[in-house]
Amino acid sequence: MFIAQRAERLQPSATLAVAGKAKAMKREGKPVISFGSGEPDFNSPASALQYASDAMSKGFTHYTPESGIPELKEAVCRYYQDHFGLSFSVPEVLIGAGAKPLIYEALGCLLDPGDEALIFTPAWVSYVEQIRLFDAKEVLVDTSDTGFIPDIDRVRSLISPRTRCMIVNTPNNPTGSVYDRKTLLGLADIAIKHDITIIYDEIYERLVYGDAVHNQILNLCPAAREHTITINGVSKAFAMTGWRIGYALGPKGIISKMSSFQGHLTSNPCSVAQYASLGALRGAEDDVVRMHASFSGRRERILGLLRDMPHIRFAEPKGAFYVWIDIEKTIGMRYGDRVIENDASFCEILLEAKYVAAVPGSGFLTPGNIRVSYANAEEEIVEGMKRLKEFLVELC
Ligand SMILES: Cc1ncc(COP(=O)(O)O)c(C=O)c1O
Repeated sequence: MFIAQRAERLQPSATLAVAGKAKAMKREGKPVISFGSGEPDFNSPASALQYASDAMSKGFTHYTPESGIPELKEAVCRYYQDHFGLSFSVPEVLIGAGAKPLIYEALGCLLDPGDEALIFTPAWVSYVEQIRLFDAKEVLVDTSDTGFIPDIDRVRSLISPRTRCMIVNTPNNPTGSVYDRKTLLGLADIAIKHDITIIYDEIYERLVYGDAVHNQILNLCPAAREHTITINGVSKAFAMTGWRIGYALGPKGIISKMSSFQGHLTSNPCSVAQYASLGALRGAEDDVVRMHASFSGRRERILGLLRDMPHIRFAEPKGAFYVWIDIEKTIGMRYGDRVIENDASFCEILLEAKYVAAVPGSGFLTPGNIRVSYANAEEEIVEGMKRLKEFLVELC
């Protein structure tokens, strides 16, 4: 069969590939511990389950408006009012089947073929592939040498007449960095001056630790409102990854275009999942706080264990639930008769030898690193890190 170049170019999601391989090995009976996927291990909140069950028994199992049910949009507006003091109206909100398709729809409404989108590397795996699906070009701004926070002069130097948008992700996947006020103000200033849209992916906004603070960019720079599409959802903070509900907030014009795009792509997001998300937004604040406390404990635990390991380096993550680990020193070393050639072979040999799954940094456009998620139960973290340490000690 003839395959379009667009599909030929497409790379599978590195995170889903690792998670899939780990699951397949588990099914074969192997004692795999996966630090691959970015998925909380908690059950979804009781209020979400209750609303879903009620929705099913009341027959809310039909098409909904393509952009989502009004009650959920209102609940999203209330959330932004309560948490950030930001006032959004219902036509400024779009409900989608997760944050991921909403980012795709935003890019689809912003990028013509040949246009440019800035992304800050290390960057979440799907950004680059989504940009390319619109025959647009990614422009990479490396943050590895600037503490995983973009350098504003570097960003400015990469703006061209074809730059249409930048994707800003804080708290960040994969590095766990949380962008400071000055950086966000600098990015907002660039967006306004050059008429560029910021896709502000704050899907991890509830997950910051210690003295770190997450800033909503519109609180820092209200003038950027016409240049910002905010992306959020229930997946991470509410442990609702499988329900597939996200929300986008932005100016009415672009939200309406994204809504039409969605209408031709998925129609509405799942009706029952929308009600479940309504239940979460109305009644799961305590669950979010409890899960945050658990993540915070797990973070302490994993960082303590990692500090005690040879050959690796890492910066302490301040948000999300990932540790980004520099494994450059292990490249060229041997495990038994196998040579670690790069981050992908590090992960492959680690999985085969110790049944520990991690994601190669090349999936995030930054080879020489791996990403480990600590959204796992604490016992798994302890056992998995014990095996990772053994692996590193056994390298020669
Ligand atoms: C940075 C970032 N944005 C968006 C998403 C997608 O979230 P959802 O599962 O709601 O589609 C993820 C999920 O891993 C993510 O890490």
